[in-house]
Amino acid sequence: MFEKSEYTDYLKKVLRLNQSSAGQFPSLVQGEVHIWTVSVDRLKEQLNTLKSLLTEEEIGRVSFYKFEHTQHSYIVTQAVLRVLLSLYLDVKPGEVQMGVHSKGKPFLIHDRPIFFNISNSEDLCVYAFSYDGEVGIDIERIRQMPDIEQLIQKNLTVREKEYVVKDPDKKLARFFRFWTIKESYLKAIGEGMRLTPDNLEFFVEQGKIRLRSVNYGFEGADWQFKEFTRDGNYTGTLTFAGRELIIREMIPV
Ligand SMILES: CC(C)(COP(=O)(O)OP(=O)(O)OC[C@H]1O[C@@H](n2cnc3c(N)ncnc32)[C@H](O)[C@@H]1OP(=O)(O)O)[C@@H](O)C(=O)NCCC(=O)NCCS
Repeated sequence: MFEKSEYTDYLKKVLRLNQSSAGQFPSLVQGEVHIWTVSVDRLKEQLNTLKSLLTEEEIGRVSFYKFEHTQHSYIVTQAVLRVLLSLYLDVKPGEVQMGVHSKGKPFLIHDRPIFFNISNSEDLCVYAFSYDGEVGIDIERIRQMPDIEQLIQKNLTVREKEYVVKDPDKKLARFFRFWTIKESYLKAIGEGMRLTPDNLEFFVEQGKIRLRSVNYGFEGADWQFKEFTRDGNYTGTLTFAGRELIIREMIPV
């Protein structure tokens, strides 16, 4: 049986987590959002260990995924989520309790809840954590899509379309930037498909990304957006509520 500190060290080693200079797991404080980025492929050797950290219900969900690589991705993503939350809360991964809102957004059940959201695209999974309010995160690898023209037509507003198609060399990258901005917002507010992306319009005001609703008549003024990129042609956006927060990137070694 592990002592608690050995167990924590073991989990950090499994995830190859960076530690602060004091050798501590970085604590999350008010006023911050932590973004973690994990490569599913790099954690493949740890698959059995990671799977052993899942609850029975989560293990049952593995078979919902048809392909081996999507099953692996699910195991790594969920187990890493449990480990990160357990390290923040200083409990064991199996003691982390989560629920799911009616439209699918998972949340932490705890006296002092940490707001979180996750996103997967191909090899990468990103996580956002904050004490300050709801967060939404989305990542996509910029890639060729056979139905790109339909996706542009369906998901962007007239003004956004004009901007995206203006320069054919930048079309894909611009489309995916809009996609992650809109999706991260929809994930922050916890909506599924009701508020569809073509009802949201992105604009820039004083150098900052803003969203307004075209058909529902509200301004997304209370939300902040932070775009990021990752090697391998990935683009992503973090959406967080309210005032400016310090965004800390945590990248396992
Ligand atoms: C549910 C939805 C948010 C998932 O997004 P996705 O890109 O397929 O997948 P991601 O990897 O980014 O995120 C998945 C995770 O988000 C979380 N999630 C699920 N439903 C959510 C919701 N309503 N709100 C916030 N987060 C949600 C879960 O943790 C999920 O992980 P799981 O699948 O392992 O349970 C998405 O399907 C959706 O409804 N999007 C909005 C509509 C749309 O068409 N967007 C296109 C933008 S141009």
